[in-house]
Amino acid sequence: MTSTFVIGGTQLVFGAGSSKDIVALIAHWAFNQLLLVSDAGVMGAGLLEPIEDAFEFTDTETHIFSNVEENPKAANVVAGVHRAKEVAADGLIAVGGGSVIDTAKAIALILANDCRLEDVVGEQSVPLPPRPLIAVPTTAGSGSEVSRWSVITVKGQKEAIGNRHLYPHLTLADPKMTLTLSASMTAYGAIDALTHAVEAVLSPIGHPFSRALGREAIKVIFAHLENVLENPEDLHGRTRLLEASLMAGMAFDSASLGPVHGLSQALGGAFDLPHGLLNALFLPGVLKEYQTHAPDQLERLPAVSSSDRSFLSALQSLIERIALPHHLERDLSETALNRLAHRAYHDQGMGVVPLSVATCRSLIQSVVHPG
Ligand SMILES: [Fe+2]
Repeated sequence: MTSTFVIGGTQLVFGAGSSKDIVALIAHWAFNQLLLVSDAGVMGAGLLEPIEDAFEFTDTETHIFSNVEENPKAANVVAGVHRAKEVAADGLIAVGGGSVIDTAKAIALILANDCRLEDVVGEQSVPLPPRPLIAVPTTAGSGSEVSRWSVITVKGQKEAIGNRHLYPHLTLADPKMTLTLSASMTAYGAIDALTHAVEAVLSPIGHPFSRALGREAIKVIFAHLENVLENPEDLHGRTRLLEASLMAGMAFDSASLGPVHGLSQALGGAFDLPHGLLNALFLPGVLKEYQTHAPDQLERLPAVSSSDRSFLSALQSLIERIALPHHLERDLSETALNRLAHRAYHDQGMGVVPLSVATCRSLIQSVVHPG
């Protein structure tokens, strides 16, 4: 049996302080007009300014587009394309978390092809590769900086854009950029990365390479997350969490995701809640389904605790210790519940590990309690 493993088309530069080298690293493109894509949180934390300042005495002009929301919306992409055309951008730098990088990917692809968002949603082929995109992640979680995927919310539904050219051309992964992340953003990002790793390890279309990356990411997150939450400026811990999120991103980019993401994408589109929080709510319930129907598959997951008997109980203990919620308080009509269950059931990841509509429905019911 043969297997193919593609890490992607991204040149990955990793290291504390690496973002300072951005001008030299992209000099060969000789950009005239660069669009810096970011959001209010990143700008408020002062993370965009040094990147902008680095171009001050160069021949490249920079322009900021920061109108990106959490769970980025179609309107954010449309506004970004408009801004990119206005300034005749010949390249983009995304400085932010998954929402910012996903938005920049969509802008870069639409801009190059002079098309509409609906022309690139899904895995449609478009004639031209995106404009050059440089990613500078400021969170450790989404893995978007090493993947070919972008997720945009269109009319209350999360839609994936997948394209083999959508890997950022260059990713500058600088752990110092994650030092000011809040505790909740750190925890949500880490649980998102943990979920990517778990789903990649359990994926039936994975292979030894993606499983090795996923297993290592899982071990690193269990080993370092709590230390970083206690000591947010622990650069070593931040470095390890960023490494883990990149490994998990590479693992799922190759092996695909699974039902946890099917469920969290369905609810994320409807409720506009943090993606990592939704993954934390659904991951234990989905693992219980494995425990009941395919317990042998859970043996692929690494040992992460000397005191907990199983991966599931170690995960539940971790979620308890870092005080993430167990449920959401939302009123959900029968119609809305059924619609979300169907939406989750039809998600791409569900095609990899099928759960019935009824199981999706009961998993949603188990985490959404009447408000
Ligand atoms: Fe995710």
